[in-house]
Amino acid sequence: MTKSLLVTGGAGYIGSHTLLELLKAGYKPVVFDNFSNSCAEVLSRVEELSGCAIDVIEGDIRDKSALVRLFEARRLANEPVEAVVHFAALKAVGESVEKPTEYYDNNVGGTLSLLKAMDTCGIRKLVFSSSATVYGEPLRLPYTEDHPFAPTNPYGHTKAMVEQILKDWCHASDERSAVALRYFNPIGAHPSGRIGEAPQGRPNNLFPFITQVAVGKRDKLSVFGDDYETVDGTGVRDYLHVVDLAIGHVLAVAYMASGNRGFQGINLGTGRGTSVLELARTFERVTGRPVPYEILPRRPGDIAQAWADPTVAAALLGWRANRDIEEMCIDGWRWQSQNPDGYQSVVKK
Ligand code: NAD
Ligand code: UFG
Repeated sequence: MTKSLLVTGGAGYIGSHTLLELLKAGYKPVVFDNFSNSCAEVLSRVEELSGCAIDVIEGDIRDKSALVRLFEARRLANEPVEAVVHFAALKAVGESVEKPTEYYDNNVGGTLSLLKAMDTCGIRKLVFSSSATVYGEPLRLPYTEDHPFAPTNPYGHTKAMVEQILKDWCHASDERSAVALRYFNPIGAHPSGRIGEAPQGRPNNLFPFITQVAVGKRDKLSVFGDDYETVDGTGVRDYLHVVDLAIGHVLAVAYMASGNRGFQGINLGTGRGTSVLELARTFERVTGRPVPYEILPRRPGDIAQAWADPTVAAALLGWRANRDIEEMCIDGWRWQSQNPDGYQSVVKK
C-alpha cells in the first residue's frame, strides 16, 4: 500500500522540493498549508514535474479540528496518514524580533496543535524542520548534534522550544518517533527550473539576493562585513542544495518507518564552509552573470562562521550531500532566470 504522509507547509520552498522526492520514492503526500508565504501555483508545478495529482488542504496548523478532520478522512478512505513532515513555520529572523508573539504562536503553538491532533488520531511519527540556528555562537566547529543550544533571536528560540517539546512527546510514549533535521543553509532549486525559492519583497538571505542582482532586480549585493576572522573576512556558511535537503526528509521518514523510536536531532549540511565572496564569485563564474557588490558593516546578530558535522546523518540515515556549490548556483540561476518574478506573474493572470 502507498504510504500516506501529511506535509505541513508543503507549498513552501523546501516543502515543494521535498514533495517531489517523496512522490519519486512512492509516498502519497497530502499538503496542508495556509499559503501565508506561498501560492498554489507551486503545487501545480510539482504535479507537472511528477505526473502525480497532489491532495491539498488549505488550512492553518493552529486549527486542530481541521487537522483531525483530515486525519479521519484519510483513515476512512483507507489511506491512513503514517507520518507527518512538518515544515509549516514563519522563518524571518528579523521579523521574529519585531513580532515575537506571532512567531511563538505560529511556530510553537502551531506545533502543539499539530501534536495534539496527531495524538487524537494515533499518529506517532514526525519529521521536524529545525535549524542550525539553535546552536547560536559556535563554541567549536564543526557543530555536532551535542553542541549546546543558545539561539539568539525569537525564531531560533521557537526551533529550540519545539525540539524540547518533541523530546518530551517521545519520552511520554515509547511508540513515538520524531526526527528534528537541523538544516544549515539550503540554496538552489530543482534542476528543471520550474520550482525554486520565491521570497516576498527584499530577500533576507544571501543566495536569493545574489540571483536577484544577477537578473537585474537589484543593483548590487550588500556584503555584511569583511572584517571577520575568516578566509577573506566575509561570513562563512555551510550551503547545501535544496534537492539534497529534500532527500534527507525521505530518508528520515524511512528511518522512522524501519522501527527507530524516540527523539533524534540530526544536522543536514555538507560539512564545508563557503564565504560570501566565494559564493558570489562561484556564481559569476558558472553563470557568466556579474554580481556587483559593496561592503557594508556587519549585520547585527550574525556569527562569523558555521558549518556542520554531517557524520550522524550519514550513520543513521545514509544521507550525504552530493551536489556542490557550482550545481547550487547553476540550478538556482536556472530557476531565477526563467522565473524573474517567482510564481507571481502566473498567479496574477
Ligand atoms: P517557506 O516559508 O517557503 O515555507 C513554509 C510554508 O509553511 C509556507 O508555504 C507557508 O505558507 C506555510 N505556513 C506557515 N505557517 C503556517 C501555518 N500556521 N499553517 C499552515 N501553513 C503554514 O519556508 P522554507 O524555507 O520552505 O522553510 C521550511 C521550514 O524549514 C520552516 O520550518 C523553516 O523554519 C525551516 N528552515 C528553513 C531554512 C531556510 O534557510 N529556508 C533554514 C532552516 C530551517
Ligand atoms: N549576507 C550578506 N548579504 C546579504 C545577506 C546575507 O552579506 O544580503 C551574509 C550574512 O552576513 C552571512 C551569510 O551571508 O554571513 C549568510 O546569510 P543568510 O542570511 O543567507 O543566512 P544565515 O546563516 O544568516 O541564516 C540562515 C537562515 C536562518 C537559519 C540559518 C541556519 O536565514 O533562518 O541560515 O540554517 F536559521
